[in-house]
Amino acid sequence: MPYAIQVHQTGAPENLIWEEVPLAELSPKEVRVRHTAIGVNYIDIYHRNGTYPLKTPFIPGMEAAGVIEAVGAEISQFAVGDRVAYGKGPIGAYCEYRNINSDMLIKLPPAIDDGIAAAGLLRGLTVHFLVRKTFSISPHVTILVHAAAGGVGLLLCQWAKLLGANVIGTVSSDEKAELAKNNGCDVVINYKKEDVLARVKKVTSGMGVNVVYDGVGRDTFFLSLDCLMPLGLLVSYGQSSGVIPAFSPQELQKRGSLFFTRPNLIDYVRAPEDYLIAASEFFSHLLEGSLQIHVGQTFWLNDAASAHRALEAGTTTGSTILFPLGW
Ligand SMILES: NC(=O)c1ccc[n+]([C@@H]2O[C@H](COP(=O)([O-])OP(=O)(O)OC[C@H]3O[C@@H](n4cnc5c(N)ncnc54)[C@H](OP(=O)(O)O)[C@@H]3O)[C@@H](O)[C@H]2O)c1
Repeated sequence: MPYAIQVHQTGAPENLIWEEVPLAELSPKEVRVRHTAIGVNYIDIYHRNGTYPLKTPFIPGMEAAGVIEAVGAEISQFAVGDRVAYGKGPIGAYCEYRNINSDMLIKLPPAIDDGIAAAGLLRGLTVHFLVRKTFSISPHVTILVHAAAGGVGLLLCQWAKLLGANVIGTVSSDEKAELAKNNGCDVVINYKKEDVLARVKKVTSGMGVNVVYDGVGRDTFFLSLDCLMPLGLLVSYGQSSGVIPAFSPQELQKRGSLFFTRPNLIDYVRAPEDYLIAASEFFSHLLEGSLQIHVGQTFWLNDAASAHRALEAGTTTGSTILFPLGW
C-alpha cells in the first residue's frame, strides 16, 4: 500500500503523520501519478495549522511532478509513461502515488527537470498573475517585494526585472540580500539592519513605489501602505507572518487614494485555458533561461515536518522540495 503524509488534527509540524493510505479505484477521467518530486508552499502550512480550515483527515500539498502509471477509461490526452506536473491543486500532493483528474495536469517539456517543475510551477503561475494580471508591469515602474529571497519572492523579482521594473526587495539577512540581488533586485533592504520606509523614500526621491507585493501580511501591512506613492497599489498576496487584522478604508484614502487587492491563484487559473497559457509562458521562460528556479533545500517526503519547520522559521531561501523515498 502506498504511503502519504496525513493530517488528522490541525496544528504543529508534528501533526504531519507518515502512514499507509490506500488508493481508490481509478475513475474514468483520472490518471494515476507516481510522484517524483513534491513542492512545499506556504499554503501547506496554512492548511496544516488550520488558518485555512479543511475537513480532516487530509493529505496536504498543492503541487508535484511525476510519471503517469495508469489512465482512466476516458483519457485520451495522456498515456502511461508521460511526465506531468500540476500547480493548482487539488490538495493531496504529499504522497507517493495519487489519482488525479487529468484537467489538473500539464505535460512536462523534456528539458524541464521534475524537481524544477515541482519547485516552480505553483510559484510560476502565481508570479505570472502578479506581474501580468493583478498589475501589468511595464518598464520603469518601481515595485517593492517583501521576502525577496523566498520562493515566490525570487521569481517575482526576476520576472518583474525582465519586464523592465525597478525592483526593491526586503530580506532578513545579508545572505538573503546577496541572493535577491542576483535575482533581479536593484536595491535590497535588510530590514533587521535598516529602516525600510526611510530607504524606500530615499531611493525613490521621496515619492514611494507604484506597487508593493506583500506576501508577509500582518507584520508588514502598514509599512507596505506607507511605502506607496499616491494612487499606488498594495498587492497583499499572502500572510507568512499572520493574517492582516480588519482595517478601515480610510487608511487607503489618507495615504493618497491607494488601491488594495488580495488575490488568490485559483481565481486566475480556474479556466483550463488560463492555466495552460500561464504554465506554458512560465516554462518558455525557464527553457530560454530568462527565469530560473532556485531550489534552496530538499527533504525526504516522510520528513515533511522538517520542511515545514524551516519554512515557518524563515530560514529557507527559494523553493523547497520533498522527494519520495528511493529517489
Ligand atoms: N495568493 C496566492 O495565490 C499565493 C500563491 C502562492 C504563494 N502565496 C503566498 O506567497 C507567500 C510566499 O510563499 P512562499 O511559499 O514562497 O514562502 P517564502 O517566501 O519562501 O517564505 C516565507 C518568507 O517570509 C518571510 N517572513 C517574514 N516574516 C515571517 C514570519 N513571521 N514567519 C515566516 N516567514 C516570514 C521570510 O523571509 P525573510 O526572512 O526575508 O523575511 C520567509 O523566508 C506566502 O504568504 C504564500 O501564502 C500566495
